[in-house]
Amino acid sequence: MPLSDLETKALDEHFLICSYVHGYTVSQGDAALFRQFNCAPPSHLCHLLRWYTHIHSFGRESASFPAAKKESLTLLINDKEVTIMVNNSMEAEGQGEAGQPPAPEEDIVTPHTVQASSNKGIDYDKLVDRFGSSRIDEALLERFERLTGHKPHRFLRRNIFFSHRDMHRILDAVESGKKFFLYTGRGPSSNAMHIGHLIAFIMTKWLQDVFDVPLVIQLTDDEKYLWQKDATKKDNSLEHYHSLARENAKDIIALDFDVNKTFIFSDVDFVGGAFYENVLKVQKHVTFNQVKGIFGFDESSSIGMIMFPAIQAAPSFSSSFPFIFGNKKDVPCLIPCGIDQDPYFRMTRDVAPKIGFQKPALLHSTFFPALHGASSKMSASDSTSSIYLTDTANQIKKKINKYAFSGGRDTVEEHRELGGDCEVDVSFMYLTFFLDDDEKLEEIRQQYSSGKMLTGELKAELIKVLQKMMAEFQERRKLVTDETVKQFMTPRSLKF
Ligand code: TRP
Repeated sequence: MPLSDLETKALDEHFLICSYVHGYTVSQGDAALFRQFNCAPPSHLCHLLRWYTHIHSFGRESASFPAAKKESLTLLINDKEVTIMVNNSMEAEGQGEAGQPPAPEEDIVTPHTVQASSNKGIDYDKLVDRFGSSRIDEALLERFERLTGHKPHRFLRRNIFFSHRDMHRILDAVESGKKFFLYTGRGPSSNAMHIGHLIAFIMTKWLQDVFDVPLVIQLTDDEKYLWQKDATKKDNSLEHYHSLARENAKDIIALDFDVNKTFIFSDVDFVGGAFYENVLKVQKHVTFNQVKGIFGFDESSSIGMIMFPAIQAAPSFSSSFPFIFGNKKDVPCLIPCGIDQDPYFRMTRDVAPKIGFQKPALLHSTFFPALHGASSKMSASDSTSSIYLTDTANQIKKKINKYAFSGGRDTVEEHRELGGDCEVDVSFMYLTFFLDDDEKLEEIRQQYSSGKMLTGELKAELIKVLQKMMAEFQERRKLVTDETVKQFMTPRSLKF
């Protein structure tokens, strides 16, 4: 029997709170409910639609969802309990899939593994469906501009931040005159930060300026210590990661964060008190089974790894920072981060209502391409794969000229005739990240793809932009002292 309008409306409310039919792991309950739809739900039921698209994206894989814990889902409709059966086990052979087309091999995106299934790189469009998040669309950007009076940052205009969760709730708060806070972080795994590491921080800094809100930055020295398995690494000690946190803090501070509005902390230093109370609440309400499903842990994972997600969850709740927020437990949180961090926050969002807190909202970015091309890995040990924050003007020039993967043609004649391919050209991609002028960028795109502009000329444009940006950064970095770091890392009240 098809679902009634009242039922679909109640389902929409269910999926506002829950990720899946039964809480926060996918199950046969989802596959069974999915089969009760003949077509996608209407777009005004946006939470139901997000769930539907998400389940659809699994295709045939839905046959291997784990069994549902319950046979039915009970919804409240006009104060009456209505039960929808979600156990109708698969009908005919071969009909086990939720979606129609057979799923190809999927991209893998988790906090600790990122692997594209094709050489074109990660398919971000698919990822939005797969993760059940929402696209950053024109309507959101327009609302953003209307509310703030600012043209959206180029990362938003160009879909470098391409996906979100609950951004409208944050804008609702702003509209009604309420403040929110920003939270982001970094795992200090090496001293050598590169420009790709700056993306989330540049976005965060801009949001802080535009909204005039407080910001907390978590440095997960504990995480990097727990995950380090490479015995050949020179130094695997906890002390090592702890000191990297302070070093990395200097680079972050050099992006010009406002000390009056920003608190940076290392987990090793800071975890305790009110923060730890929230870590415990999260730990009590998340089972091993759940983190296993989300992060791929198994019986041989260390217990440190298994409990760590609770530590990354805790900064999403304002009550973790009483010296900033007093006794306010409901200040909404917005987290700008790479899409690979989403699993942590899916878990956080699912546990939040159970422990009486608001779910954090998210803005997700794409990955920053390596110099060698979007499909190759950016490796901290290969100094030719990226631009480091310490590279000199000359090194920047040499690296771009020598290593930046080019979408140009083999000969000048061919290039003039056929034009370059901006879709694979790393120099062009980097310009989309760092050249703010939309008209100039569009002009370069046209000139390059029509063959009027040669690869060397395109690279020269990028070198100019990066040298200027890095010179400014390095000037500010010189001014950051141990004393500055101490100021940012001292728990204190913030101005907002
Ligand atoms: N786990 C992240 C990393 O390895 C660090 C991190 C902690 C983070 N909290 C965060 C990143 C919040 C983004 C947002 O880099």
